Formats: sequence, structure tokens, C-alpha cells
Amino acid sequence: MRQIKKIAITNEKGGVGKTMTAVNLSACLAQRGYRVLLIDADPQGYATLNYDVAVSPSLLEVLRGQATCTETVQTTCFGVDVLPSDRTLSIIEEDLIRQEMNGAPYLNTLEKALEDLADYDFVIIDCPPQGGRLMDIVHYYADAIIMPMFAEDYGIHALTLKAEAIADIRRTINPNLKILGGLITMDERRGLRSVF
Ligand SMILES: Nc1ncnc2c1ncn2[C@@H]1O[C@H](COP(=O)(O)OP(=O)(O)OP(=O)(O)O)[C@@H](O)[C@H]1O
Ligand SMILES: [Mg+2]
Repeated sequence: MRQIKKIAITNEKGGVGKTMTAVNLSACLAQRGYRVLLIDADPQGYATLNYDVAVSPSLLEVLRGQATCTETVQTTCFGVDVLPSDRTLSIIEEDLIRQEMNGAPYLNTLEKALEDLADYDFVIIDCPPQGGRLMDIVHYYADAIIMPMFAEDYGIHALTLKAEAIADIRRTINPNLKILGGLITMDERRGLRSVF
């Protein structure tokens, strides 16, 4: 079985704890001695803000081939390396649409852009709360997803939708993509509010 190394934290429902999970999971793995990179793939840039790292250059420049990973990845005192982003990342959606319309392949954009990446045990990707080409390139690159969710009916509904979407992705973009699971980040009935 292929080793799971690149994990996307994703749910198209907003505010369910994706960034919180990405930030804490990366820190916990680093604390256990793993070499960890956190990629902020959300133009909201909250994972970057959480680690308080510089954002110039950013993932956008790496994706555009205007900066190398080596000059963009930031180290932190938590042992986690961060590939930062800010709101300028939203421009990449237009780039990818243009590429697609011109008939040029775009799905491998993230994979190609990260070719010069140092060796990591885990690459954790904080994803935005919406789909689109940016999510396509993440789904193409990742080995697996974790889906943070609330313990509520809408959460189950979102998980069902995601399972269907992943089935589509496996048929088309990435046959190896696995769902590691839904991760309950909040359960109001039981007062559960933490996962790590
Ligand atoms: N387990 C938790 N317990 C308490 N608060 C939480 C928990 N998980 C997340 N939060 C809080 O909920 C808010 C939303 O969390 P977070 O930003 O991680 O969600 P998100 O899914 O990344 O949102 P978005 O879809 O906008 O990217 C934040 O204020 C965060 O601190
Ligand atoms: Mg977020």
C-alpha cells in the first residue's frame, strides 16, 4: 500500500475547524519528531496567521513558477515548516481556468510546483471552504483527506456529499485518494470542543 504522507484537511462547509485541525495536527506531528510541512492552500491565510510567518513570497508565486519552495517555506519554533498564503492566492483560480481553456494540463500544477520541496514525513494542507480548480490541484496532489465536521445532521450530510465527490475524484483525477475519515471537531450535546 502507498504510504500516506500528503493529507488535505477539507470540507466545503465553512467554519468547521479545518484550519484549527491543520494547525494542531501539524504541530502534534512535529512534536512527535516527524518532519512536517503545512501548506496554506486557503486565500483566507489563517493557517499562515496562526504560525505568524512571513508571506512574501507565497504559495501563489511557487504555483506560478516565480519562486522556489526553498525561498518560500518558512520555519517556525514549533518545528513545523509553513508554505504560506494570503488573499492574493485567489488569483490562481483565474490562472488555472485560463490554462484549462487553452487545453494545457493544470491538474499537476501543485505537484510540479513542489518538485524541489525538501523531504517531509507529512505534508498537511489547509483547504478553503469552497471547491474549484485550486481544490482540483490539491485533490490531484494529496494521498488522503481528513474531513473536520460538527456532530450534527448537516455534518453527516456534508460527509455524504464529500464521499460522493471523492468517488468522482477517484474515477477521474486521482484513483489513489483515500478518505481517512470525518473528524468531529465539535459536539454541542456532549460539550466536546477539542480533538488533540
Ligand atoms: N474544537 C474546537 N473547539 C472550539 N473552537 C473551535 C474548535 N474548532 C474550531 N474552533 C473555532 O471555530 C472557528 C472556526 O474554526 P476554523 O477557522 O478552524 O474553521 P475552518 O473550517 O477552517 O473555517 P473556514 O471554512 O472559514 O476556513 C475558529 O474561531 C476556531 O477557533
Ligand atoms: Mg480555514
